[in-house]
Amino acid sequence: MPAGNDRAVGIDDLSVYVPRLFLPLAGEFSTNRGIDPGKLIKGIGIERMAVPDAHEDAATMAAMSLLDLMRRARLRPEGIGKIYVGTESALDEAKAMGTYVIGMLEKIYGKGSFQECSTVEFKAACIGTTFALESLSYWVALEEEGKVGIVIASDVARYPLRSSGEYTQGAGSVALLVKKNPRLLALEQIYGSFTRDENDFFRPVGCTTAIVNGKHSNQCYLDAMQGAFDSFAAKAVRKGAITPDAGECITDFIDHLLFHIPYPRMVEYASAAIFRHDWRQSRNCSEIEQELGREPNAREYEDLGKYQAAEADYARRFAKSKHFLQAFVAKVRNTATFSRQIGNIYTGSIYLGLASLLETEKIHAGERLCFGAYGSGCSALVFSAIVQQQAGSVPLRGLVKRLQERRQISLQDYEKLHEGKMEKSVVMPCKEFALARIDHQGYRHYEYVE
Ligand code: COA
Repeated sequence: MPAGNDRAVGIDDLSVYVPRLFLPLAGEFSTNRGIDPGKLIKGIGIERMAVPDAHEDAATMAAMSLLDLMRRARLRPEGIGKIYVGTESALDEAKAMGTYVIGMLEKIYGKGSFQECSTVEFKAACIGTTFALESLSYWVALEEEGKVGIVIASDVARYPLRSSGEYTQGAGSVALLVKKNPRLLALEQIYGSFTRDENDFFRPVGCTTAIVNGKHSNQCYLDAMQGAFDSFAAKAVRKGAITPDAGECITDFIDHLLFHIPYPRMVEYASAAIFRHDWRQSRNCSEIEQELGREPNAREYEDLGKYQAAEADYARRFAKSKHFLQAFVAKVRNTATFSRQIGNIYTGSIYLGLASLLETEKIHAGERLCFGAYGSGCSALVFSAIVQQQAGSVPLRGLVKRLQERRQISLQDYEKLHEGKMEKSVVMPCKEFALARIDHQGYRHYEYVE
């Protein structure tokens, strides 16, 4: 793997924007909806949902994360060749969100400053940003004028009020700086993919909230992740990047696993499925058998219902087993820390997981990160990256403090914001981009408020 040289391409830095408003799930919300708070905090894993204010939308959040990234990395507009935006909160059926973002950034950097930078929107539910990153990395590898690329994820996760999706909402944006010789992570350029036509989650043209078949979406996520993981594993072995000896498995060569995080419990389900699947071929298998007994085998059951019940029971015990919990704590748990405080940010949530890892735990040069992205519809992409020598020199983002400084809102204000009925901002914009108005043609006008 080329590292610390110009052939390596990957993530040099990243920036996160989260709205300043939040709604706690335990309290007014859980009481009003008649839901045990334990279910929301433990069963789902979300404590607070980020809520966009009246002046915010996916474009303002994208512009905020990009502005912060440009300031952190001292980027000039002329040095940026492409901005790819992953979103499923499109503001327009035709116009690319990135053009609104460039319009906002030019209020700071000057009119025409991004003229040579191209921008396109990637839509593939929650996996759009990851496909954008994959594509952009190939462009960066071939780029010869020293320009960098930016990938922005920006979404408002919105489900109907009082639906079972409501407590898995959230909002935010992540901007990734993609360049040669990156300081943080070099992509190994091994992508395992899985795609299948599914109706687990979709938003027909004209709808403001998604149609979701929740339980089915969990299963699609797990099937797709397993398929993409197998595809990744086979490619990594063929390429010689991962070389397991007898008794070793793929996850032995992975230091941190980052999954798409629609809600933190989903990360536990995904980890349990992937570790269980991967360990079957390894020495871990006999140790697990000692702890849990043999896993059910469909061929030994005449009654399908009985097999399914035995399988569900085994899966529950596996998720509580000493072996699994050790691996989960060591390689996965910290990636979901911020999602507990923010909720789902759709296509950026896996990179919010990366931010969580970077802000809460030390990563070390040479470690391998493995990402498992999922998008409803459905697709999964599993890929890997190696932590670079300079990773420790990239300043932290102070996200823990920023999350603590947010403003709590009432259930009533949350519902008004959700329904687009809040006429004034709850917190007046200050040093930020804001939606000023939508004109009679539907064009959106933004400003930077000092
Ligand atoms: N205390 C602690 N845990 C509790 C509880 C309580 N009082 N009551 C329920 N739970 C647990 C359940 O046992 C379950 O955990 P388990 O799977 O370990 O058994 C967990 O809370 C979730 O409960 P469940 O009733 O299955 O969830 P739900 O019907 O509310 O649906 C989603 C959850 C995610 C399917 C739903 O919120 C949704 O559709 N979200 C949007 C789509 C989405 O995010 N899909 C994910 C894949 S992309």
